[in-house]
Amino acid sequence: MDGLILTDINELVTCRGEAPRKGRAMADAGIVRKGCVVIEGDRIAAAGPVDDVIHEYNPNYYKIIDCSSNAVLPGFIDSHTHFVFAGHREEEFSMRLAGSTYMEIMASGGGIASTVASTRLASLEKLVELGKSRADSMISFGVTTVEGKSGYGLDLDNELKQLRAMKLINDGHPIDVVPTFMGAHAVPGEFKGRSNDYLEYLIETVLPVVKKENLARFVDIFCEKGAFNVWQSEYYLMKAREMGFGIKLHADEIVNLGGAKLAADIGAVSADHLLMTDNEGIRAMADNDVISTLLPATAFCLREKFADARKIIDSGGAVALATDFNPGSSYTNSIPFVIALAALGMRMSAEEIVNALTINGACALGIQEDKGSIEAGKKADLVILENPSIGFLAYNTGMNQILTVIKDGKVVYNRNERHELG
Ligand code: NIG
Ligand code: FE
Repeated sequence: MDGLILTDINELVTCRGEAPRKGRAMADAGIVRKGCVVIEGDRIAAAGPVDDVIHEYNPNYYKIIDCSSNAVLPGFIDSHTHFVFAGHREEEFSMRLAGSTYMEIMASGGGIASTVASTRLASLEKLVELGKSRADSMISFGVTTVEGKSGYGLDLDNELKQLRAMKLINDGHPIDVVPTFMGAHAVPGEFKGRSNDYLEYLIETVLPVVKKENLARFVDIFCEKGAFNVWQSEYYLMKAREMGFGIKLHADEIVNLGGAKLAADIGAVSADHLLMTDNEGIRAMADNDVISTLLPATAFCLREKFADARKIIDSGGAVALATDFNPGSSYTNSIPFVIALAALGMRMSAEEIVNALTINGACALGIQEDKGSIEAGKKADLVILENPSIGFLAYNTGMNQILTVIKDGKVVYNRNERHELG
């Protein structure tokens, strides 16, 4: 018996689709009352109202899970993280509390550079071990796919080490990892004052190896005052696109440089952060199908204002939500925390939040044909909530409501049996 049927589901939240949900469509999470999901092998065989689905299947051949007091959702997709790193930066957090800004700390040699130093010293095995233990914690929050960025190596060997660590985590852990090359995260000491030369080095020396070894799907750049400017970002991302990578960028996080507009002009799949984006940038993203990936935990931890999710959605845009898990600006992979901030800080509805964490996250990673919704044919990656509806997600504030996680058709986490399942 390798089949599984989730039946009598109080609220089956399908998020069905293979395209990002934009604007008003974000308010529709494809909810089915009294739903049923049939899983065969690693795929969903059927999903819909129990009365339409169940009679087609012989219950003797399946393990049956009664979900009459639960909501069932697609596994969450954390579509923007930097989760493979060594070291920590708690002193900087205290400095920020005492009044220093993120950029001041970075300009004085701390910030990303500090994590680069500790990540360069760590072995591949150590990075894999750290990454796997973080992935365990992600799974417990219902995350079945995580995007991970390099960018704490900043030279050929160490960037490759981070990307290889992600590949090993992907192969040796139930979670799926979508790797992004972010060598353009900061200018390393070796290239101080020569940011153009550093970008040329990445284009000529590093990206070809990353491509050849198929170690990254996307290329990302920190387009920000004090990091890389808009012209550099455009030049670099165009080169990356010519080499066959998908492109995305950290845009308008601290200063509005026009990163959102650039993302629209050059066909980026997503623009991420967007705390300072103006109306023109919001319009450009909506008109050009750029997903706005919002990271409210980062805004909260930097004590900045939140991105204007309402304006982005009300202008017809598509929002994805992610943790931005990293050792500097957002040292948290807590999905419940992100949900609470999205609802209470950005006034997103439960349906909008769920779409942002599932189908829109999948679209931001180009994996929507396989993941991000509960539909026949897609991967059987889903979560069972302890609560009966998604109305509880933000209301049961900051609480982890995940009861069970099913990845590739197998139960990989069950809160009540967590010791047995290891
Ligand atoms: O998304 N802003 C740039 N990158 C990360 C932070 C990285 C770090 O501080 O280590 C971010 O916030
Ligand atoms: Fe980030």
